[in-house]
Amino acid sequence: MPLAKPFVLGNWKMNGLRADGEALALRIIEQQRRGERGGTLGICPPATLLAPLAALLDGSGILLGGQDCAPAPAGAFTGDIGAPMLADIGCRLVIVGHSERRHGHGEDDRLVRAKAAAGHAAGLLVVLCVGETEPEREAGATIDVLDRQLAGSLPEDATAENLVVAYEPVWAIGTGRTPSVADIASAHAHMRARLGALVDGGSALRLLYGGSVKPANAGQIMAIPDVDGVLVGGASLDAGQFDAIYSAGQRAAA
Ligand code: PGA
Repeated sequence: MPLAKPFVLGNWKMNGLRADGEALALRIIEQQRRGERGGTLGICPPATLLAPLAALLDGSGILLGGQDCAPAPAGAFTGDIGAPMLADIGCRLVIVGHSERRHGHGEDDRLVRAKAAAGHAAGLLVVLCVGETEPEREAGATIDVLDRQLAGSLPEDATAENLVVAYEPVWAIGTGRTPSVADIASAHAHMRARLGALVDGGSALRLLYGGSVKPANAGQIMAIPDVDGVLVGGASLDAGQFDAIYSAGQRAAA
């Protein structure tokens, strides 16, 4: 899938009942229509809102995504959602390996890789999340963790067209704290080089930064050469903030 820069993806996590989720989506669509801007915008609402939002987003150019998928396409897996189901309902992408899955639900690299492969098998763009915890960072192990997670969870069929990597330091998610611009730049430059070695044409993969992205820091973050966009949690639940982040990305890309 061609992904114009900046790629700004909202992850609503477990937030939104039908009325407010639809209202938020409608505001985002309206802002997007008014702006007629370049770049790529996407939202990942909770699974319960995928069907109504697929209908609303149809023709808007805004990508719809799932927040997770099962490694198997279908079967006796109570509570899980298969990637073909996401594709069937209108999703173009799926997030895998988010820290709230890795650390909150004990998902290891092997499982994340199987989920990524399942996303690809269903024709979805996979947004693979990686990132170190605070103790790992304090131990100076950030680069080792990124290398281990990339080597362990990248699916074999990854290409620059079907995979996006999101660097999300676990300690920056939902905390209001972010790494310095220099730290994000060095993590991304390292990932770009590593992906070039692991994947054919891998240095062209889109790289997102995620973790406490807000309107105030989005421009600075998206001005970093190896940052192609952002994955936004909390601020994506506010249409005005989400729009301000997207606008900051446009300016940074200009
Ligand atoms: P946050 O979440 O923007 O609320 O820190 C980011 C994420 O989890 O992707």
